[in-house]
This record gives sequence, C-alpha cells and structure tokens, in this order.
Amino acid sequence: MSRILITSALPYANGELHIGHVSSTYIPADTYARFCRLKGHDVVFVGGSDDHGTPISVAAREAGRTPLEHVDYYRERQLNDLKALNISFDNYYRTHSEENREITEHFLLKLRENGYIYQKEVELFYCERDKTYLPDRMIKGTCPYCGAEDQYSDACEVCGRTIEPGEIHRPYCILCGNPPVTRRENHFIFKLSAFSDRLYEWLTSDETGEKFPKDVVNYVVQWIKSGLQDWDITREDYWGFKLPYKDAKENQYVYVWFDAPIGYIASTINWSENKGVDWEDYWKRKDSFITHFIGKDIVYHHFLFWPAVLMGTQEITLPKKYVVNGYLTLEGAKMSKSRNWLIPLNYILKRYPADYVRFYLSFKADNSTRDNNFSWEEFQERINGDLVDNIGNFVHRILHFINNRYDSKVPEPSDFDDFDKEFIQLISSVTDELAEYYEQCDLAKAIKRIIESFKFANSYFSAKEPWKTIKEKPEEAKNTLYLCANFLHSAAIHLNPIIPQFTETLQKYLNVKPDTWDSARKLQLKPGHEIMKAKPIFEKIPEEEVQKEIETLKQQTTQTEKKEEIDINEFNKLDIRIGEIISAKQIQGELIQLTVQIEKNKQTTIVGKLGGSYKPEELEGKKVAVLVNLKPKKIQGIPSEGMLLAAIDEKKISLLAPDKEVKTGSKVK
Ligand code: MSP
Ligand code: ZN
Repeated sequence: MSRILITSALPYANGELHIGHVSSTYIPADTYARFCRLKGHDVVFVGGSDDHGTPISVAAREAGRTPLEHVDYYRERQLNDLKALNISFDNYYRTHSEENREITEHFLLKLRENGYIYQKEVELFYCERDKTYLPDRMIKGTCPYCGAEDQYSDACEVCGRTIEPGEIHRPYCILCGNPPVTRRENHFIFKLSAFSDRLYEWLTSDETGEKFPKDVVNYVVQWIKSGLQDWDITREDYWGFKLPYKDAKENQYVYVWFDAPIGYIASTINWSENKGVDWEDYWKRKDSFITHFIGKDIVYHHFLFWPAVLMGTQEITLPKKYVVNGYLTLEGAKMSKSRNWLIPLNYILKRYPADYVRFYLSFKADNSTRDNNFSWEEFQERINGDLVDNIGNFVHRILHFINNRYDSKVPEPSDFDDFDKEFIQLISSVTDELAEYYEQCDLAKAIKRIIESFKFANSYFSAKEPWKTIKEKPEEAKNTLYLCANFLHSAAIHLNPIIPQFTETLQKYLNVKPDTWDSARKLQLKPGHEIMKAKPIFEKIPEEEVQKEIETLKQQTTQTEKKEEIDINEFNKLDIRIGEIISAKQIQGELIQLTVQIEKNKQTTIVGKLGGSYKPEELEGKKVAVLVNLKPKKIQGIPSEGMLLAAIDEKKISLLAPDKEVKTGSKVK
C-alpha cells in the first residue's frame, strides 16, 4: 500500500467551469484517484478554488461586488458542477483561507531567512488616463520571446513562456488602449535563478524519469538552460494576502501564483483537521507520493516555481508524479470565453448523464500535451456506438438471459473449451493491461482497451449461441453465461474509474459489493449466485438532438458577437461634436460634399453618401452630430475629415440633430 496525495489544479473562482477544464484536469485526476482507491492505496484527493489574483479583483470591481462575494459566488457554482460530474474529492477547499494564509506567510518568512528573497526596484505600468496601476492582465503587448502580438503581459499563449513584469514589448492598457507610463516601486523578488542546477538535476534524475511526461521535461529543461529569470512575487492590489514583511507597503500583496499551489497543502490540512490524521504524513514524508494534475498552460508554475519554493523552504517533499494534458478545442476551434465558444459544464450535465460526459472526454485524456477536439457528432457516435451498442447491449443481453433462462442464478460451469479458456485468459490480461494504462493516466488507451474487451465478449456470446445450445448442449450454454456474468463483474471494476455511476448500477444488478481492483483478474461470481432483475442502463442520443446542440452553440456565439461590450473609455475615444453645415454640393452619384463649422475658426470638409435622402440645399444651415476625430480619408479625391452621424432605416438616412438649440462645438456624450 502506498500513500498517494493527488491534486488537481485549482480553478480560478472567476467564471463557470467548461468541458476543457474537466477534460484536461478534473476527470483525469478523479479517474486516477478512483483507480488508486481500488488498488487499496491510502489516497487523499484534494482540490479547491483559486480565489486570488488581479483578474479576480478587476472582475469583482467591474461586477460591483467585493472580491470575496465574487469568488464565493463562483466557487459554489464550480463545486456544484464538479459534484454533479462525480469528481470524488476528499476535500474541496480554497486559497482564501486561514490555513493557506498561515503557510504562505510561513514560507515567505522562511525563504527570506534562507536568503532567497531580495528587494529590487521594478518598473510598473501605470495608466494615467485610468489612474490605476495596471496588473499583468490589464496590459497586453508583444511577447519578448516569440514576437506574438496582443499577449497578456504575464504569459504568452503562443509560446507558453511566462513573462516577468516590465518585460512585455509595446505595452498598452486594455481599458483605454493607450501606452502606459512606468512608475518605480520596491518589490520582493524570489531568487528562482539560484535553483537552476537543483531543478535541472531533479528533473533529469532517474527517480522522476518514469513519472514525469518526457516531452514536458524536455522543454522545461530547455527553459532552464536558456536561463531562469528571478520571480517577482509582489503585486499592487487590494485583494489577496498581504506580504508578511515589515518593509512591505500598504498596497503590496502576494502574487496569486505564490499562494495558489500552497492551496493544495491548505486543502489537505483542512481535510486532516476533522479526520484526526496528520497532514504532514502526506506532505513531509519521503514515501508520500505527491501527484499533480494540470493542463499544459501551467507547466512553468508547477515544474519550476513550485518545486523551487519547496526546495527553498526545505520542509516539503518534492512532487513525484505529474500528469499534463493538452487543451480541448471545440468543433475544431479554440475555446473562447469572450466569444462564448465553449460548453459550460452545467449546460452539458443538465442534458446528459455525467457518465456520458466522462466516457467521451476520457478519449481526450492521454497524458500528453497534444490538443484534442470535442465535437457533438463524435460525442454522439461514441455514446451510441461504443457505450450503448457495444457495452450497454452486452450488459443487458447477459443479465436478461440469466434473469429469464436461469431464474436469475449464475449457472454452474463444467469443462471449458478453448474458446472459453481464451475468454478467461482475456479477463485477467485485460485487468493487468488496464492497470498499466491507469497508472500512466492514459485514459484514452484504457477506454479503448475496455471497448475491445467488450467487442470480444460480444463476439464470444454471439458465436456461442447459448439461445440454441441451452436446448441442444445445456452444459455449454451454462459455461457461456457463467463466463459472461463473470466478465461483467470484472468489467464493472475496469470501468469504475471512468464511469462510476454505471458501475454502481451494474453492481446492484449483479448483486455484488464494490470489490478491489485485483479481484477483477479472477472469476468471482460463484455458481448459484442470485442476480437482480435488470433494465437497460443507457439510452441513445437521438440524431436531431446533436444537430440542435450544434445550432445552439453557433447561436450563442453569434449573439455574443453582436453583444460585445465596450468600456466607457473606449466610447470616450470618440470625439463627437455639434457642427453647423455651412454649404453642401452634390459631387457624384449620392455623394455630397459638405463644409461644416465646428469651432469658431475651423471649417471641416466631409464627404457623405446622403444624396438618396437629402438635397444639398436642405442641408445648409442644419446643426448635426459629427464625429470629428476620424482618420481623414480621400473620397473621390477630396479629403474627408469626419463623419456625420445618422440613423439608417433600410435606405432612408436621417441625420442626428440636437433637439434644443446648442452652441456649435458642443460635445456629444
Ligand atoms: N488557477 C490556476 C491553477 C492554479 S493551480 C495551483 C488556473 N486556473 S484555470 O481555471 O485557468 O484552469 C484550471 C485547469 O483547467 C488548469 O489545469 C488548466 O490548465 C485547465 N484548462 C483551462 N482551460 C482549458 C482548456 N481550454 N482545455 C483544457 N484545459 C484547460 O490555471
Ligand atoms: Zn488606460
């Protein structure tokens, strides 16, 4: 028996969970936890919400809530969704907690005492227009490593590197689009560079060779070789944990990524408190097997920052295993919160059983950083073909046969023939192979192997034709059903980590208690064992339903495209004034050239397509709304320096005019 501590990345309590989060992180972690429990290990599976960080304080401010109200709201919703998906956390906690504050402060003091924290003046971005420091997520710019444009200033989505404050090229404020100014502040810096050798050695040691994804280790090693930057752990904010240093300023807080992984420990402490066990057994003993499940975007934080912090405090055992999955795309395109191109977990769980979602998404979890795609049509194919036709029908055929033909009792076997022996052999070898796949957290391989085993079982049953042999060769029919029933007993265990609800139902029908993994290798059901009356477990997804899902998805994204919100500051960039039309003349077709008085001594030329609705003489003397800071553009060779605002009703154009007398030059807001 091993002691295994399993963590899954803590989701930001800043929105709804979607199918991507669960496919890369929560389903793989839960499947592994369930497998380890079946193997009889001492397992603790912890999670929780990531409550801190400037994106959350910014979002809370915008929503008119306090940050705590904001994270309480989303934490609750995320937790409900994870429960509905049957993610079997031993504890789901949060980073904004006393436990987490305590260890975070302890770590920070300890690291400083050990000489790994120093102070440095850093340049911060400040937007003079918006009168605020601009944290990472409020600045975008060009990635200093790969040159990708429009990247957040703390991480590049294109090359995957994290970017230190101040390093982004050509920065701009996301609120107003203006380049920010810089201000100098004293910050606390973690000496990540001091750990380069130790990190390198740890990552390339034999001990980690098998349990760390090779491709990930390779690129992390490249990062180390190209030189690690020290890590600024200070942020100007009003939310999070205060730095525990006397020389820190009032508005200086701990960077969210410092306290986030410590949340794994806090969750374990909180769990242990009501259990009368010692959390240190899981985090400080050398024989504890700490396993992290993450998506590929947070490799830097988990393979470099986190172990370096642990090395610097010298109190906690280093992680022993990592499972890293790629991103999930949706119908071939990148998921996007702003375009609403995603499927929220609570949406899909309202329409389909949790087992369907887990079954399909397990094909996407192969412990590799390759990206995978979700498609509604493939979802339906997998469910209708593999789950309902192959697995579900076999289950029902066997249970029904025993219910009806053997009075619900597992028949007594006698001499097995070669085909029977092959089937018996398959049951034990599949169990062993699956154990390996689950150990590697390659759910895709596991689910495919299980499907193959059911295909074998189906063809065995069909070839044996027990509905015929029950009369002609009753001993042979008994063997067939005895073996098929036993296969089901094993298959329930094989499938338990992936579709636990199905297992429960099947075990209820088989009238057995949940059994250990190793019991699945052998024939456990004894002759005469009585089973229950069974009903079909799964239902197919109708064709129309999938087409509807695709429609819904398309609609929800076009709606958000229309609805895209802009900030008031973006609107304020438009300089709209009341101008008086001094003269107007038709130039060509519907084009009219206007001279508009805006300020006392300034006349502006504007060319507009108004001829269909106005005659030039109708326009002279009118006071209308004009956009004056539009980039000049030549129309028919005439430079047009603004735009008249108008309502457009099909072909009819109606100029916007003030409904009370106002001075020319008045601002329109
Ligand atoms: N709060 C951090 C993790 C801190 S861990 C100490 C975070 N949160 S997150 O909400 O953005 O992501 C939660 C998990 O979902 C992460 O493992 C992340 O990699 C994963 N994914 C987020 N979007 C995803 C997809 N589109 N596809 C697959 N996984 C995705 O990161
Ligand atoms: Zn700004």
